[in-house]
Amino acid sequence: MDFLDKHLSDYVNKHTQNEPDLLYALNRETHLKVLNPRMLAGHLQGRVLSMLSHMIQPSKVLEVGAYTGYSAICFSEGLKEGGEIHTIDINEELEPIQTKYFEKAGIANNVKRYVGNALAIIPQIEGPFDIVFLDADKENYLKYFELTLPKIKKDGYLLADNVLWSGKILEENPKADDVDTIGLKAFNDAIQKDIRVENVLFPIRDGLMVCRKL
Ligand SMILES: C[S@@+](CC[C@H](N)C(=O)[O-])C[C@H]1O[C@@H](n2cnc3c(N)ncnc32)[C@H](O)[C@@H]1O
Repeated sequence: MDFLDKHLSDYVNKHTQNEPDLLYALNRETHLKVLNPRMLAGHLQGRVLSMLSHMIQPSKVLEVGAYTGYSAICFSEGLKEGGEIHTIDINEELEPIQTKYFEKAGIANNVKRYVGNALAIIPQIEGPFDIVFLDADKENYLKYFELTLPKIKKDGYLLADNVLWSGKILEENPKADDVDTIGLKAFNDAIQKDIRVENVLFPIRDGLMVCRKL
């Protein structure tokens, strides 16, 4: 979801560095061949992730929710020489498209992939990480935060996507079966109170929470 009106959104995109050709191709192939293509970060958010990665210059990134590999490639753009991106996804069918694009991006040796439920996999991955990016099932964001925070370096960052959830986080009493909205509200409220991090909620696309570990 984009909260800007179409004209402003077009203006923002036109005044943001173009999507690199490889990511444009991945974006297109994802739309043609993979279910739920709107899950992919896309042009603007991808450039934001790339810019943050260039600013942080991480040696080690942990991504929860790889999908077709778009955001992992964005993070790789600022990765230190020999750095690592650990990325988890529950859907093994995504592996061929991830492999194709990680190879084309020249980062196949930098990326370690894990297939399965992130709740079970995160405890098996060793930190410390400079960046953790949460972008899987929204219901479990707070659990992912608690599992990953001890693995983040001091002054490292946790980023979480979709924290505005198309505005649904404003609902005072979400339906009991709307576990994503309930999970995101709990996550945003907990982060705001947590003295272990400083945080800014950027209203970019569907909302990007940026936390610095103190
Ligand atoms: C929004 S997409 C990730 C998009 C990707 N970060 C990007 O920007 O290109 C969310 C992904 O999380 C995965 N996922 C959902 N629940 C999961 C879980 N419990 N453990 C691991 N991956 C999960 C889905 O299979 C899906 O590919």
